[in-house]
Amino acid sequence: MRVEVILSPDEVGHHDLCGKTCVVMDVFRFSTTVLTALEAGMERFFPVNDVAEAQRMKNENPKYLLAGERNAVKIPGFDFGNSPLEHYGKSYTGGELVCSTTNGTKAVQAAQGAAQVVLASLRSAQAVAAYLERSGRDVVFLPAGLEGKFSLEDTWCAGLIASLLAVREWDDGAKAARLLYEHTPVDALVDSAHGRRLQALGLWDDLRFCLECSVSPGVVIWEPQTGWGALVRER
Ligand code: MLT
Repeated sequence: MRVEVILSPDEVGHHDLCGKTCVVMDVFRFSTTVLTALEAGMERFFPVNDVAEAQRMKNENPKYLLAGERNAVKIPGFDFGNSPLEHYGKSYTGGELVCSTTNGTKAVQAAQGAAQVVLASLRSAQAVAAYLERSGRDVVFLPAGLEGKFSLEDTWCAGLIASLLAVREWDDGAKAARLLYEHTPVDALVDSAHGRRLQALGLWDDLRFCLECSVSPGVVIWEPQTGWGALVRER
């Protein structure tokens, strides 16, 4: 298995995703939130780039639930913001989320040239690694980053998952991510650029929740063909 890590979203055009599994991470908080919402019983999710598209989808199908944020704050008129704790412990009987966030949903869309797209978080790291081993495809990790720039926590997550894989070949980004993971304590991630934004909003419980590693068996798959994503449980 060859593993690549794209160190900033703006580099995605320099990587060939064809035939590979692309793993998108937005640890703070989109990929953590989607995992948690699906585990709470939401049926599926549809990431969109902008608020207007989300609202258009809702107008066409009022049953859709809108979830998302700008600058980590819930978008006015949406049903949910982007905190995993809005969903943790809930028990939904289905539901279809249309999501729009500042970085995470854009990163998912950027992965659509891949053979398969997986959304990963620290909470699902072990389950995602097992899923990637089973799929056997080469892997490109795509940290969502922050406004196009490098993200400490997303890249650390890529390094953690990569360290769990039987890798034959590492690109430089993957080597850097693995070294970051091996030499940085997980608690240090709260002081990333986005971690500090969430701290400033008092979202410490969100941060602590997002930083729990390999506590979930869930693997989130997104299908570029349909635009919908859902949960598969790693055997
Ligand atoms: C994002 O997608 O940019 C983040 O998940 C924003 C947030 O903290 O909700």
